[in-house]
Amino acid sequence: MISSFPDRHLLDLARLSAAQIDALLRRAQRYADGAQAPSALAGIAVCTLFFEPSTRTRLSFQLAAQRLGAHVLNFDASTASTTKGETDLDTFRTIQAMGVRGFVVRHKVDGAVATLAEAAQPGVAVLNAGDGRSHHPTQGLLDMLTLRQAKGEDFSKLKVVIVGDVKHSRVARSDLHALRALGCGEIRVCGPAALLPDDDGTLAGCAVSHDLDAALDGVDVVMMLRLQRERMTEGLIASLDDYHRAYGLTEARLRRAAPDAIVMHPGPMNRGVEITDAVADGPQSRVLTQVANGVAVRMAALEMLLGDAASS
Ligand code: CP
Repeated sequence: MISSFPDRHLLDLARLSAAQIDALLRRAQRYADGAQAPSALAGIAVCTLFFEPSTRTRLSFQLAAQRLGAHVLNFDASTASTTKGETDLDTFRTIQAMGVRGFVVRHKVDGAVATLAEAAQPGVAVLNAGDGRSHHPTQGLLDMLTLRQAKGEDFSKLKVVIVGDVKHSRVARSDLHALRALGCGEIRVCGPAALLPDDDGTLAGCAVSHDLDAALDGVDVVMMLRLQRERMTEGLIASLDDYHRAYGLTEARLRRAAPDAIVMHPGPMNRGVEITDAVADGPQSRVLTQVANGVAVRMAALEMLLGDAASS
Protein backbone atom coordinates (compact mmCIF):
# COMPACT_ATOMS: atom_id res chain seq x y z
CA MET A 1 0.00 0.00 0.00
CA ILE A 2 2.88 2.38 0.75
CA SER A 3 3.90 2.26 -2.90
CA SER A 4 0.72 4.15 -3.71
CA PHE A 5 1.80 7.08 -1.53
CA PRO A 6 4.15 9.60 -3.12
CA ASP A 7 7.69 9.36 -1.73
CA ARG A 8 6.42 6.96 0.97
CA HIS A 9 5.32 9.94 3.07
CA LEU A 10 2.13 11.90 3.74
CA LEU A 11 3.21 15.47 3.07
CA ASP A 12 0.20 17.06 1.41
CA LEU A 13 -3.17 16.17 -0.05
CA ALA A 14 -2.44 17.79 -3.40
CA ARG A 15 -0.29 14.77 -4.25
CA LEU A 16 -3.06 12.27 -3.50
CA SER A 17 -5.72 11.11 -5.92
CA ALA A 18 -9.40 10.91 -5.03
CA ALA A 19 -8.99 7.11 -4.81
CA GLN A 20 -6.13 7.42 -2.31
CA ILE A 21 -8.08 9.89 -0.19
CA ASP A 22 -11.09 7.60 -0.34
CA ALA A 23 -9.00 4.61 0.76
CA LEU A 24 -7.69 6.54 3.76
CA LEU A 25 -11.17 7.71 4.70
CA ARG A 26 -12.63 4.20 4.44
CA ARG A 27 -9.96 2.81 6.71
CA ALA A 28 -10.42 5.72 9.11
CA GLN A 29 -14.17 5.13 9.24
CA ARG A 30 -13.53 1.56 10.36
CA TYR A 31 -11.46 2.90 13.25
CA ALA A 32 -14.10 5.52 14.00
CA ASP A 33 -16.59 2.62 14.21
CA GLY A 34 -14.42 0.97 16.85
CA ALA A 35 -12.25 -1.44 14.87
CA GLN A 36 -9.10 -2.52 16.73
CA ALA A 37 -5.61 -3.09 15.33
CA PRO A 38 -3.43 -3.35 18.43
CA SER A 39 -0.53 -5.05 16.66
CA ALA A 40 -0.46 -3.23 13.31
CA LEU A 41 2.60 -1.22 14.37
CA ALA A 42 3.95 -3.61 17.01
CA GLY A 43 7.68 -3.13 17.48
CA ILE A 44 7.74 0.12 15.48
CA ALA A 45 8.83 3.41 17.05
CA VAL A 46 7.07 6.63 16.08
CA CYS A 47 8.28 10.09 17.09
CA THR A 48 6.11 13.19 17.30
CA LEU A 49 8.59 15.87 16.30
CA PHE A 50 6.84 19.20 16.83
CA PHE A 51 8.72 22.48 16.43
CA GLU A 52 5.44 24.38 16.93
CA PRO A 53 2.78 24.04 19.65
CA SER A 54 -0.15 21.68 19.29
CA THR A 55 -2.80 20.06 21.43
CA ARG A 56 -5.07 17.95 19.25
CA THR A 57 -2.74 16.96 16.41
CA ARG A 58 0.12 15.84 18.62
CA LEU A 59 -2.01 14.03 21.20
CA SER A 60 -4.22 12.33 18.63
CA PHE A 61 -1.20 11.11 16.68
CA GLN A 62 0.28 9.77 19.93
CA LEU A 63 -2.97 8.03 20.82
CA ALA A 64 -3.35 6.68 17.30
CA ALA A 65 0.18 5.23 17.30
CA GLN A 66 -0.34 3.70 20.75
CA ARG A 67 -3.61 2.09 19.69
CA LEU A 68 -1.75 0.48 16.80
CA GLY A 69 0.85 -0.92 19.20
CA ALA A 70 3.74 1.43 18.36
CA HIS A 71 6.31 2.78 20.79
CA VAL A 72 5.77 6.54 20.89
CA LEU A 73 8.49 9.11 21.52
CA ASN A 74 7.56 12.71 22.14
CA PHE A 75 10.15 15.31 21.11
CA ASP A 76 9.79 18.45 23.23
CA ALA A 77 11.42 21.39 21.45
CA SER A 78 11.52 23.45 24.65
CA THR A 79 13.84 20.97 26.41
CA ALA A 80 15.66 19.42 23.45
CA SER A 81 19.16 20.12 22.17
CA THR A 82 17.72 22.39 19.51
CA THR A 83 17.82 24.98 22.33
CA LYS A 84 21.63 24.52 22.22
CA GLY A 85 21.71 25.19 18.50
CA GLU A 86 21.29 21.73 17.02
CA THR A 87 19.73 22.01 13.60
CA ASP A 88 16.37 20.51 12.73
CA LEU A 89 18.05 18.21 10.22
CA ASP A 90 20.59 16.94 12.76
CA THR A 91 17.74 16.42 15.20
CA PHE A 92 15.85 14.34 12.63
CA ARG A 93 18.92 12.29 11.70
CA THR A 94 19.77 11.72 15.36
CA ILE A 95 16.33 10.32 16.17
CA GLN A 96 16.29 8.32 12.94
CA ALA A 97 19.61 6.71 13.97
CA MET A 98 17.84 5.33 17.04
CA GLY A 99 15.68 3.22 14.74
CA VAL A 100 12.57 5.35 14.70
CA ARG A 101 10.47 4.43 11.63
CA GLY A 102 7.72 7.03 11.75
CA PHE A 103 8.03 10.80 12.12
CA VAL A 104 5.07 13.07 12.71
CA VAL A 105 6.46 16.55 12.10
CA ARG A 106 5.06 20.06 12.62
CA HIS A 107 7.06 23.13 11.66
CA LYS A 108 6.36 26.83 11.27
CA VAL A 109 8.30 27.09 8.02
CA ASP A 110 6.62 26.23 4.72
CA GLY A 111 8.25 23.18 3.17
CA ALA A 112 10.32 22.31 6.25
CA VAL A 113 8.62 18.94 6.72
CA ALA A 114 9.21 17.97 3.10
CA THR A 115 12.87 18.97 3.48
CA LEU A 116 13.27 16.67 6.48
CA ALA A 117 11.51 13.89 4.55
CA GLU A 118 14.27 14.08 1.94
CA ALA A 119 16.65 12.86 4.67
CA ALA A 120 14.50 9.85 5.49
CA GLN A 121 16.10 6.45 5.03
CA PRO A 122 14.30 3.67 3.13
CA GLY A 123 11.39 2.34 5.18
CA VAL A 124 11.06 5.53 7.21
CA ALA A 125 7.82 7.49 6.80
CA VAL A 126 7.25 11.19 7.47
CA LEU A 127 3.76 12.52 8.15
CA ASN A 128 3.18 16.24 7.93
CA ALA A 129 1.38 17.52 11.04
CA GLY A 130 1.28 21.06 9.63
CA ASP A 131 3.93 23.23 7.96
CA GLY A 132 3.69 27.00 7.81
CA ARG A 133 0.62 28.08 5.92
CA SER A 134 1.01 25.29 3.36
CA HIS A 135 -0.35 21.91 4.36
CA HIS A 136 -2.09 20.07 7.18
CA PRO A 137 -3.07 16.86 5.42
CA THR A 138 -4.49 14.88 8.33
CA GLN A 139 -6.66 17.88 9.30
CA GLY A 140 -7.99 17.91 5.75
CA LEU A 141 -8.70 14.18 5.96
CA LEU A 142 -10.45 14.36 9.32
CA ASP A 143 -12.55 17.23 8.04
CA MET A 144 -13.58 15.15 5.02
CA LEU A 145 -14.43 12.20 7.26
CA THR A 146 -16.60 14.48 9.41
CA LEU A 147 -18.26 15.82 6.30
CA ARG A 148 -18.96 12.34 4.94
CA GLN A 149 -20.47 11.19 8.22
CA ALA A 150 -22.83 14.17 8.22
CA LYS A 151 -23.64 14.50 4.52
CA GLY A 152 -22.79 11.20 2.81
CA GLU A 153 -20.08 10.33 0.31
CA ASP A 154 -21.49 12.19 -2.69
CA PHE A 155 -20.19 15.76 -2.39
CA SER A 156 -21.43 16.81 -5.84
CA LYS A 157 -24.43 18.73 -4.52
CA LEU A 158 -22.75 20.11 -1.40
CA LYS A 159 -22.31 23.81 -0.81
CA VAL A 160 -19.40 24.51 1.52
CA VAL A 161 -18.19 27.88 2.76
CA ILE A 162 -14.75 28.42 4.32
CA VAL A 163 -14.68 31.57 6.46
CA GLY A 164 -11.87 33.69 7.86
CA ASP A 165 -8.11 33.88 7.59
CA VAL A 166 -7.64 31.70 4.54
CA LYS A 167 -4.43 33.47 3.60
CA HIS A 168 -2.46 32.10 6.55
CA SER A 169 -4.33 28.82 6.92
CA ARG A 170 -2.76 25.46 6.13
CA VAL A 171 -6.07 23.90 7.18
CA ALA A 172 -7.94 25.81 4.48
CA ARG A 173 -5.42 24.80 1.82
CA SER A 174 -5.65 21.12 2.72
CA ASP A 175 -9.45 21.31 2.91
CA LEU A 176 -9.57 22.95 -0.51
CA HIS A 177 -7.40 20.22 -2.05
CA ALA A 178 -9.59 17.52 -0.53
CA LEU A 179 -12.91 19.16 -1.39
CA ARG A 180 -11.85 19.54 -5.02
CA ALA A 181 -10.52 15.97 -5.21
CA LEU A 182 -13.78 14.61 -3.82
CA GLY A 183 -15.89 16.64 -6.25
CA CYS A 184 -17.52 19.19 -3.97
CA GLY A 185 -20.33 20.92 -5.87
CA GLU A 186 -19.76 24.49 -4.71
CA ILE A 187 -16.94 25.96 -2.63
CA ARG A 188 -17.30 29.48 -1.29
CA VAL A 189 -14.57 31.38 0.49
CA CYS A 190 -15.32 34.41 2.64
CA GLY A 191 -13.12 36.80 4.58
CA PRO A 192 -11.67 40.28 4.62
CA ALA A 193 -9.56 41.03 1.54
CA ALA A 194 -6.41 41.30 3.68
CA LEU A 195 -6.90 37.73 4.91
CA LEU A 196 -7.57 36.07 1.57
CA PRO A 197 -4.73 34.64 -0.51
CA ASP A 198 -3.13 36.59 -3.29
CA ASP A 199 -3.85 35.41 -6.80
CA ASP A 200 -1.70 32.28 -6.41
CA GLY A 201 -4.23 29.65 -7.47
CA THR A 202 -5.29 28.72 -3.93
CA LEU A 203 -8.85 29.85 -4.59
CA ALA A 204 -9.19 28.47 -8.11
CA GLY A 205 -12.80 27.52 -8.75
CA CYS A 206 -14.05 29.07 -5.51
CA ALA A 207 -16.68 31.79 -5.24
CA VAL A 208 -14.96 34.56 -3.27
CA SER A 209 -16.92 36.98 -1.08
CA HIS A 210 -16.29 39.54 1.63
CA ASP A 211 -19.91 39.45 2.83
CA LEU A 212 -20.50 36.64 5.32
CA ASP A 213 -24.29 36.98 5.35
CA ALA A 214 -24.42 36.44 1.59
CA ALA A 215 -21.81 33.68 1.66
CA LEU A 216 -23.83 31.69 4.20
CA ASP A 217 -27.02 31.61 2.14
CA GLY A 218 -28.15 27.99 1.77
CA VAL A 219 -24.81 26.34 2.52
CA ASP A 220 -24.64 22.79 3.87
CA VAL A 221 -21.31 23.16 5.63
CA VAL A 222 -19.70 26.13 7.36
CA MET A 223 -15.97 25.72 7.96
CA MET A 224 -14.76 28.43 10.32
CA LEU A 225 -11.05 29.18 10.63
CA ARG A 226 -9.07 30.40 13.60
CA LEU A 227 -8.31 34.10 13.46
CA GLN A 228 -4.56 34.13 13.85
CA ARG A 229 -4.31 36.92 16.40
CA GLU A 230 -0.67 37.45 15.57
CA ARG A 231 -1.97 39.04 12.34
CA MET A 232 -3.26 41.91 14.45
CA THR A 233 0.31 43.14 14.79
CA GLU A 234 0.67 43.16 11.02
CA GLY A 235 -2.24 45.60 10.78
CA LEU A 236 -4.31 43.16 8.74
CA ILE A 237 -7.26 43.45 11.11
CA ALA A 238 -8.51 46.67 12.68
CA SER A 239 -9.79 45.11 15.91
CA LEU A 240 -11.20 41.84 17.22
CA ASP A 241 -14.58 43.54 17.71
CA ASP A 242 -14.66 44.70 14.09
CA TYR A 243 -13.70 41.23 12.93
CA HIS A 244 -16.42 39.63 15.04
CA ARG A 245 -19.04 42.04 13.72
CA ALA A 246 -18.15 41.29 10.10
CA TYR A 247 -17.04 37.65 10.20
CA GLY A 248 -18.10 36.12 13.51
CA LEU A 249 -20.51 33.19 13.23
CA THR A 250 -23.52 33.83 15.44
CA GLU A 251 -26.76 31.87 15.80
CA ALA A 252 -28.60 34.57 13.84
CA ARG A 253 -26.15 34.35 10.96
CA LEU A 254 -26.17 30.57 10.97
CA ARG A 255 -29.92 30.64 10.26
CA ARG A 256 -29.01 31.80 6.72
CA ALA A 257 -27.44 28.40 6.05
CA ALA A 258 -29.47 25.26 5.27
CA PRO A 259 -31.47 24.14 8.31
CA ASP A 260 -29.37 20.98 8.62
CA ALA A 261 -26.06 22.72 7.97
CA ILE A 262 -23.12 21.66 10.10
CA VAL A 263 -20.46 23.93 11.58
CA MET A 264 -16.82 22.91 11.69
CA HIS A 265 -13.74 24.52 13.21
CA PRO A 266 -10.26 22.93 13.34
CA GLY A 267 -9.47 24.44 16.74
CA PRO A 268 -8.16 26.05 18.74
CA MET A 269 -11.16 28.40 18.73
CA ASN A 270 -11.20 32.07 19.61
CA ARG A 271 -14.59 32.08 21.29
CA GLY A 272 -16.38 35.36 20.84
CA VAL A 273 -14.21 36.30 17.88
CA GLU A 274 -14.76 34.00 14.87
CA ILE A 275 -17.43 31.93 16.59
CA THR A 276 -19.81 32.46 19.49
CA ASP A 277 -20.19 30.03 22.38
CA ALA A 278 -23.77 29.32 21.31
CA VAL A 279 -22.66 28.14 17.87
CA ALA A 280 -19.48 26.37 19.01
CA ASP A 281 -21.43 24.38 21.58
CA GLY A 282 -24.72 24.24 19.67
CA PRO A 283 -26.49 21.33 17.97
CA GLN A 284 -25.01 22.03 14.54
CA SER A 285 -21.42 22.09 15.77
CA ARG A 286 -19.18 19.18 14.80
CA VAL A 287 -16.06 20.53 16.51
CA LEU A 288 -15.64 17.62 18.92
CA THR A 289 -16.57 15.10 16.22
CA GLN A 290 -13.65 16.50 14.25
CA VAL A 291 -11.37 15.91 17.23
CA ALA A 292 -12.58 12.32 17.62
CA ASN A 293 -12.16 11.68 13.90
CA GLY A 294 -8.60 12.95 14.18
CA VAL A 295 -7.61 9.82 16.08
CA ALA A 296 -9.25 7.53 13.51
CA VAL A 297 -7.72 9.33 10.54
CA ARG A 298 -4.26 9.29 12.10
CA MET A 299 -4.55 5.59 12.87
CA ALA A 300 -5.41 4.99 9.22
CA ALA A 301 -2.54 7.14 7.96
CA LEU A 302 0.04 5.56 10.26
CA GLU A 303 -1.13 2.07 9.39
CA MET A 304 -1.13 2.69 5.65
CA LEU A 305 2.39 4.15 5.76
CA LEU A 306 4.00 1.91 8.39
CA GLY A 307 1.87 -1.22 8.82
CA ASP A 308 2.39 -4.66 7.28
CA ALA A 309 0.66 -3.70 4.05
CA ALA A 310 3.07 -0.80 3.68
CA SER A 311 6.06 -3.06 3.06
CA SER A 312 4.29 -5.33 0.55
N1 CP B 1 -6.25 21.77 14.45
C1 CP B 1 -4.99 21.75 14.93
O1 CP B 1 -4.01 21.56 14.21
O2 CP B 1 -4.91 21.92 16.29
P1 CP B 1 -3.58 21.85 17.15
O3 CP B 1 -2.74 23.05 16.77
O4 CP B 1 -4.04 21.88 18.58
O5 CP B 1 -2.87 20.58 16.81
